[in-house]
Amino acid sequence: MSAPELKFEEFTATSPSLGAMTRKNNFPTMIFQGQLENHTEFNENIRKLVYAEQKKASTSKPANDIEIMEWRSAKNLHRNSKFAAVRDHLEAALASISSELHYSKDHRLKISSMWANISPSGSGAAAECRPGNLWSGCYCVRVPKGTGSMKFIDPRTINVMNPAKFEKDDKPRDCFTKVTFKPSEGHFVIFPAWLYHEVETNMAKQSGPAGDYIYISFNATQVKDKRSSTAS
Ligand SMILES: [Fe+2]
Repeated sequence: MSAPELKFEEFTATSPSLGAMTRKNNFPTMIFQGQLENHTEFNENIRKLVYAEQKKASTSKPANDIEIMEWRSAKNLHRNSKFAAVRDHLEAALASISSELHYSKDHRLKISSMWANISPSGSGAAAECRPGNLWSGCYCVRVPKGTGSMKFIDPRTINVMNPAKFEKDDKPRDCFTKVTFKPSEGHFVIFPAWLYHEVETNMAKQSGPAGDYIYISFNATQVKDKRSSTAS
């Protein structure tokens, strides 16, 4: 039996406090998360590849003070065969999102840039969005204790500038203006490219590689799927 089609009515909320009214959440901000099972060997291999990239790289371009300590690889790792396994895994997740959101079957979400980050103790990544892309994300390779959370910020500035007052510790999740995700190894997050996000400071006690938070970042765009047109 096939899964039922989602109907808009299913997003309608009712509750005793609403009485005869109903609530519909429109313009949702979707953040997808997943976990790669049996990732230990997979991640260990990526970790070694990332350090090898760092060793052969001659420059890194920090964007601001806190990021001076963070190292970033070139942004073309999706074209590097050594990183093909992680790229394929992430593109499989993006294909699921395409299907979930009823995107055109003649198109697919393709990773357009992918890079590695080594974030030592004391470093983080300032808030940014990723112009020119549809979806963005990251895959957590190595997460020492003390790694900072990934924080997403409500893009509707009015909610941050002029917030409502809520009962203490009783703010509905639908009204959050900031949400954080605690990274864990094998975990990945995929979010709209326009959504501001930051990585809080890595507070790992160890210095050197033992305190390094390592993750793979990527962006994705929607492209005509040549594979589907040649197959039909
Ligand atoms: Fe980012």
